[in-house]
Amino acid sequence: ALIDKGNHRHFMQKEIFEQPVVVAQTLQSYIRSVEQQVALPQMDFELSAIERVTIIACGTASYVGLIGKYWIEQLARVPVEVDVASEFRYRDPVLSPNMLGVVVSQSGETADTLAALRHMKAGGVTTAGIINVPTSSMAREVDLLLPTHAGPEIGVASTKAFTCQLAVMAALAVNLARAKGRLDAAEEAEIVRHLIEAPAAINAALAHDAEIEAMAHTIAQARDVLYLGRGPDYALALEGALKLKEISYIHAEGYAAGEMKHGPIALIDEAVPIIVIAPSGPLFEKTVSNMQEVRARGGKVVLISDADGLAEAGEGCLATIEMPSVHPLIAPLVYAVPVQLLAYHVAVAKGTDVDQPRNLAKSVTVE
Ligand code: G6P
Repeated sequence: ALIDKGNHRHFMQKEIFEQPVVVAQTLQSYIRSVEQQVALPQMDFELSAIERVTIIACGTASYVGLIGKYWIEQLARVPVEVDVASEFRYRDPVLSPNMLGVVVSQSGETADTLAALRHMKAGGVTTAGIINVPTSSMAREVDLLLPTHAGPEIGVASTKAFTCQLAVMAALAVNLARAKGRLDAAEEAEIVRHLIEAPAAINAALAHDAEIEAMAHTIAQARDVLYLGRGPDYALALEGALKLKEISYIHAEGYAAGEMKHGPIALIDEAVPIIVIAPSGPLFEKTVSNMQEVRARGGKVVLISDADGLAEAGEGCLATIEMPSVHPLIAPLVYAVPVQLLAYHVAVAKGTDVDQPRNLAKSVTVE
């Protein structure tokens, strides 16, 4: 069937709004709801024998790797390294038979990621792939295919593939944790309950579309934008900055909130909007103090947080965006939405070609 934009102005917008459905679709294939268990497809190796994980990807997919590192290390206590494929393939990485090499790719054809996969396989590494196109080269070559069910993604800037990749990464982290004896049945059942809530929470995040559109006109005036977060939200800060650069051509940087004082704080003045991604939780206070440092220098903050976080720190911000209160494991799937919508609406406000931004290709099959 022909893919059209339906009643959306751009494919990117359509794909952002498809997320509750496609994330639910993806989760469904990894969750046994009766048993309240997460399940991966059949594999011909022992997950319990895995002693280290290496995640390789390019662009947006590489941020799924960064978030996966937090999840896998926390839940399974297995060390994880994350690298972009173009660096990994040429740095003579240390490979070992007890490692799981995970590639993440929407297309399954990105040249650098495919080369990294082949490099790992040649080195005797067991491989898995979180991939959206099931007929792609990577999908055919990995030992364990972990499909995302996002459907065709047309917009060059990846959106629904990203959140579906996160859903699969969460399933992998939970399975590894169970295989490693780090998760009992009750804990797993609780995680399953939270995962099942993700599509509704994504829907709630989408409800802020008009608000984000309204503030996008202010952000569209900026020359530079800074994104800050900690933990998995640091990865989202990187993703937010990448999205904004890709489609609005505004210079943006994502930084770990705690690193701000080691450089980027020098950039801050009244003209630089700072997008702070910070759900309430153990690290919230720390991020808020970084936010105060920015505000003390005239920085205009857009705070993306939940009701508790906004009640505590929302005052004095240029704008706030309220996310539903969710379990930390699903928070990145939810907080990805305002980050995508902001980039989208800023690009529309600037009048750029949202679905086909200059100089970029959907799938980079040459080095
Ligand atoms: C291109 C796209 C990005 C994408 C990256 C990786 O650069 O513009 O949006 O994240 O490739 O693509 P993949 O298909 O491997 O996920």
